[in-house]
Amino acid sequence: MPQINRQFLLASRPQGAVTPDNFRLVQTPLAPLADGEIRVRNHYLSLDPYMRGRMNDSKSYAAPQPLDEVMIGGTVGEVIESKNPKFAVGDKVVAIFGWQEYGTSDGAGVQKVDDTHVPLSAYLGPVGMPGVTAWYGLNRIIAPKAGETVVVSAASGAVGSVVGQLAKQAGARAVGIAGGVEKCRYVVETLGFDACVDYKAGNLYQDLKAATPDGIDGCFENVGGEVLDATLARMNPSGRIAVCGYIAGYDGQPVPLKHPSLILTQRLLVQGFIVTEHMDVWPQALNELGTLVAQKKLQYRETIAQGLDAAPEAFIGLLKGKNFGKQLVKLI
Ligand SMILES: NC(=O)c1ccc[n+]([C@@H]2O[C@H](COP(=O)([O-])OP(=O)(O)OC[C@H]3O[C@@H](n4cnc5c(N)ncnc54)[C@H](OP(=O)(O)O)[C@@H]3O)[C@@H](O)[C@H]2O)c1
Repeated sequence: MPQINRQFLLASRPQGAVTPDNFRLVQTPLAPLADGEIRVRNHYLSLDPYMRGRMNDSKSYAAPQPLDEVMIGGTVGEVIESKNPKFAVGDKVVAIFGWQEYGTSDGAGVQKVDDTHVPLSAYLGPVGMPGVTAWYGLNRIIAPKAGETVVVSAASGAVGSVVGQLAKQAGARAVGIAGGVEKCRYVVETLGFDACVDYKAGNLYQDLKAATPDGIDGCFENVGGEVLDATLARMNPSGRIAVCGYIAGYDGQPVPLKHPSLILTQRLLVQGFIVTEHMDVWPQALNELGTLVAQKKLQYRETIAQGLDAAPEAFIGLLKGKNFGKQLVKLI
C-alpha cells in the first residue's frame, strides 16, 4: 500500500495572472484507514476555470479556497483500499479530492461510475460537471426551438463543445466563437456546428454577423467582454442569454459592455446560473449525456497534462486558452 501522498496546496493568492509559485507541492504520509473509510488512487484531475475564482479572497457564490490546503478539484479514480461496505477495491469513482494523487474519504460525495461504455475521464467532461453545465444553460435557460440560432463562446472547450452539439440535436443552428483557425475548424468539422467565428482574426462583429444572417436567439456566454458585446449586438427580440462564465475577466481585467441598452430594447432574458445550485437536474442530464457519449453521438476532445507536477502550468495555460477541449491532468 502507498505510504506517501503528493499534493498541491494553495501557497498564495494571485495578484492578476496566476503564477506557478501560487502553488506548493508537498508530500504527506498516508495514515492507515479508519473504519468506514476508503482510499482512492486518482487517475485524472480536472482543471476548471472556476478554480481561478476560488483562489481570490473575495465575496462570490462559493467560499475562497483556504491557503495551505489542497487545491479543490474534481477527480476520477479507483478504490485501492476499503473499510467501507459500500465500496469495493476496484470500484471506479468520481469525487472532489482535489490536486493530489490519493483521496481518503468516508464515502460522502464519492459516486461510483461505470466505465464500460463511457471512458473514466469523460466523467470529468461531457458526462460530468461541464456537460451538466451545458445541458442546464441550454435546456433550462435558452430552450432553443427548431430553426433558432444559438451562439456559444469558448466553443471548442469542455462546456461550449457540448452546448453546440445539444443545440444541433434540438434542431437549432449552432454557431461557435473560438480562438484560432484550428479550434474553429474542429468546432465545425468534428463537432458539427454550422459555423464558427475566430475572435482572434480581428473582425469579430462582421464575422459574427455573416455567420448569423437571421440574428441570434440564444447566447450561451462563457467569455464576456468584447465577445459578449458582439453577440448582444446581434440578438433578436426576446432572445435568451445564459450567462455561464466570464473567463476574459478572471484575472481581474475589466469586461465592459458597450451595448447594455440592447437588453431593454430587444427585451432580452439574461440569466446567470451556477450548475451546482441545480442538483435536481444532474441525474437526468448525466443519464442523457452518458447515453450520447456511449453511442458516440456526442464528440469531445481532451488536453491531457502528464503527472501531478504538470498541474500548475496546465492550469495557467487553461486560463490563456492553451487547452483544446477539456483540460485534464493524468495522475497515474
Ligand atoms: N456557471 C457555471 O456553473 C459554470 C460551470 C462550469 C464552467 N463555467 C464557465 O464556463 C466557461 C467555460 O469553461 P470550460 O470548463 O468549458 O473551459 P474551456 O472552454 O474548456 O477552457 C477555457 C477556454 O476559454 C477561452 N478563453 C480563455 N481565456 C480567454 C479570454 N481571455 N478571452 C476569451 N476566451 C478565453 C479559451 O478558448 P479560446 O481559445 O477559444 O478562446 C479556453 O480554451 C468558463 O467561463 C467557466 O468559468 C461555469
